[in-house]
Amino acid sequence: MSHGGPDAAPSADDAAGVGRNIVVWDVPTRVFHWLAVSLVVAAYVTARLNWADWHAYAGYALLAALLFRLLWGAFGGETARFSGFLASPRAAARHLAHAWRREPDLQIGHNPAGGWMVLLLIALMLGETLSGLYVGNDIAEEGPLSERVPAAVADLIDALHDRFLWDALLTAVAIHLLAILAYATVKRHNLLLPMVTGRKILPRGTPPPRLENPARALLLLACSFAAALALVKFV
Ligand code: HEM
Ligand code: HEM
Repeated sequence: MSHGGPDAAPSADDAAGVGRNIVVWDVPTRVFHWLAVSLVVAAYVTARLNWADWHAYAGYALLAALLFRLLWGAFGGETARFSGFLASPRAAARHLAHAWRREPDLQIGHNPAGGWMVLLLIALMLGETLSGLYVGNDIAEEGPLSERVPAAVADLIDALHDRFLWDALLTAVAIHLLAILAYATVKRHNLLLPMVTGRKILPRGTPPPRLENPARALLLLACSFAAALALVKFV
């Protein structure tokens, strides 16, 4: 089932001529975002406190959430789909060339530069969870991979988990937050509120993005849990 679309009835805002209050981020995308933020914080806190069990639970939950986001990026609504927001590097560069220009916010999903940042954040979180599974199983010597990997590779995976990927993720998050701050101050675009409410006011006549049925999200979520469970057993 699709919501919205060009044939959607005009809203009261349309009629009043003040712009159109449109849902740009669906519930699954927003829940994924704030859950990922909470779980990264939880993973860090539990690592610092040496709470290995809770660290593992936070990691497994983030892995399931990330697998869901990958599926949602293939089968979700228009603004969640990778094909919808991964622009060419040239388009990303063109977008960045306008970074200092104050202009109206007409963006429906991720902008062409932001799309690449989203992919990087997801990739780094995925790297952190997968290397974590290996580190955990290596210490407990219980994963099938732990026995087959040479010591040098095992050390490298440990270093990736504890230092390199973590540092890269922190750096990417810092850039992510600075970019949101820059949009708020330089361009006066409020990106944060739509990631909370899902909604944004766009010019009249803007077609709302096509969003998918939440039932599809639940089905994909079940698949992600199953896949995460299989990875936890295998890695
Ligand atoms: C996004 C951040 C992180 C995620 C998602 C994550 C995820 C994971 C996961 C899934 C495991 C496997 C747990 C198991 O199956 O036993 C793990 C283990 C581990 N992680 Fe992380 N981790 C993160 C950050 C960190 C950081 C910053 C450190 C420390 C500098 C750290 C240190 C460890 C250690 C020492 C283990 C082995 C724990 C054990 O099983 O005793 N992790 N992590
Ligand atoms: C651990 C920290 C964080 C990580 C890993 C992270 C990751 C992400 C990811 C993966 C997306 C893309 C969402 C999607 O399409 O699924 C995103 C978007 C977004 N995040 Fe975060 N985020 C973090 C912290 C924050 C915080 C603290 C804020 C608020 C100040 C924030 C605000 C936003 C906003 C506004 C967007 C939408 C950007 C746009 O309009 O294109 N993020 N973030």
